[in-house]
Amino acid sequence: MQVAVKRDKPEQVAADVLVVFLRQEQSLPPKSVVAQLDARLDGRIRDYLDSGDFSGALNSTALVRTGGAIQAPRVLLVGLGTPAAFTIDALRQAGATAATAARRLGVHSLALLPPAGDMAAGEVSQALTEGALLGLYTLKKYKTEAADGNQDHLSDLYLLASGSTAQRALESGAQRGQILAEAVNMARDLSNSPGNEVNPSYLARQAREIADQTTLRCHVLDVDGIREHQMGCLLGVAQGSDQPPAFIILEHAPKGSREKPIVLIGKGLTFDSGGISIKPAANMEDMKMDMAGGAAVLGAMQALARLGYPHRVIGLVPSSENLPSGNAVKPGDILRAMSGKTVEVINTDAEGRLILADALAYAVQELKPACMIDLATLTGAVVVALGSLATGMMGTDRAMMDRLRAAGDYSAERVWELPLFEEYSKQIKSDFADIRNVSSGREAGSIIGGAFLKEFVGDIPWVHLDIAGTAWTREPKPYIPKGATGVGIRLLVKALEDMVQSAPQPAAKGAPAKAATRPKAPATARSS
Ligand code: BES
Ligand code: MN
Ligand code: ZN
Repeated sequence: MQVAVKRDKPEQVAADVLVVFLRQEQSLPPKSVVAQLDARLDGRIRDYLDSGDFSGALNSTALVRTGGAIQAPRVLLVGLGTPAAFTIDALRQAGATAATAARRLGVHSLALLPPAGDMAAGEVSQALTEGALLGLYTLKKYKTEAADGNQDHLSDLYLLASGSTAQRALESGAQRGQILAEAVNMARDLSNSPGNEVNPSYLARQAREIADQTTLRCHVLDVDGIREHQMGCLLGVAQGSDQPPAFIILEHAPKGSREKPIVLIGKGLTFDSGGISIKPAANMEDMKMDMAGGAAVLGAMQALARLGYPHRVIGLVPSSENLPSGNAVKPGDILRAMSGKTVEVINTDAEGRLILADALAYAVQELKPACMIDLATLTGAVVVALGSLATGMMGTDRAMMDRLRAAGDYSAERVWELPLFEEYSKQIKSDFADIRNVSSGREAGSIIGGAFLKEFVGDIPWVHLDIAGTAWTREPKPYIPKGATGVGIRLLVKALEDMVQSAPQPAAKGAPAKAATRPKAPATARSS
């Protein structure tokens, strides 16, 4: 999709559909751009409002033929909801509603008139662009015929700079929105694609491709490299599969900076059958998405590079399949993680924490991180606890969790904290090894997963995000079609950007203040 800002007046824009966003319970402010447009249209917009044919409720729409009164043949009215309930997410949704309605019309171009209001122009154009491009997402690759007989011709999205709105702000916002949406859609492709295509080697190739197209550096440990690093848990999970595992490392180092990196870790389990502790057949096909955390890390790294993020970030994706076979890891087997800790595998279906254990240990031992965030479709229990509306969050650093919470509210990729009290760790003591990979009961399943990971983080500030409930949806929303949601990327980028903004800005010798900012030293306050 081509995205561009145009300086045209709304009545002059050459687009197939001109989109006008309207708030509920509000009349057109006199002399506003929309009121002027309405005058050209002989009051047709006002008529829709007054008659009640168009309410302005969030995501409501009405299509108005313009009959030659203005350049565009159609005006699409899209509701933003009541001013009282208005948030940045209403703009993302409305952007998606507008774009998908235009697609259904079979047109080539649409122009959005950003609504006037208190919000900064850049934020508005980012949200509209993000919503539009996310809402238009589909996975076409595996359909031999266009599903609805064709009509996706949409190729141009314009944002109109009108009156005093700063064109530059609109442009940078639109560009940010496009970078984020393209990263999320790339991650959705990976999670929606089947396990017979997206296996660990495919994820590794995708990471290399991302590095080729950006300033990122990519390094992949193959099975020999994984063995050399003594990642016994990742090897144990992978040993039941004919597909070799991969350990993906993507680095963003702006101007070769050598500061301690922020490390992002994503679970890259390309198919989770449960292994010997095999899962029931119903919905097992969904387990092709068990690499959604890894996809989110690849997407976040791509977006951070394209946005020119000023700090050093390293993304790690341990990747494997989890299958039963004559060579598969068995209940009772004991694996040795890279950290040296031994793990008794009680349930081979608790494999995510095993591969993450080695990734966390690798980060702690090899990368000396400033902080670490992992994303993983780790437990069915988090779906029971929080459903699909919030990602489960646990960690050791209050300041990081506060920032992620705020970033979650802003990005509408909300997170909710679960406790990691010390006492939970007692439940994973093993009779035969240092720890076991599950507790003896079914209580607090997500927290037990977090407690297991905590065994491998040392004293590095760390947060775990359990996205098992948020990575996949059966109920589409305006900018989240069915299937993989691509959750985590917009959340991470927002949280990392806030980290920079809230950092003290020491005026270092000879260096501009901006280049001297560091990720805020993580607070020492522990949550457990
Ligand atoms: N990948 C699953 C978790 C999952 C469940 C993701 C539903 C997405 C949707 C994970 O590897 C798993 O199997 N977890 C087990 C842990 C249990 C054995 C302690 C689970 O949740 O049942
Ligand atoms: Mn599993
Ligand atoms: Zn899994």
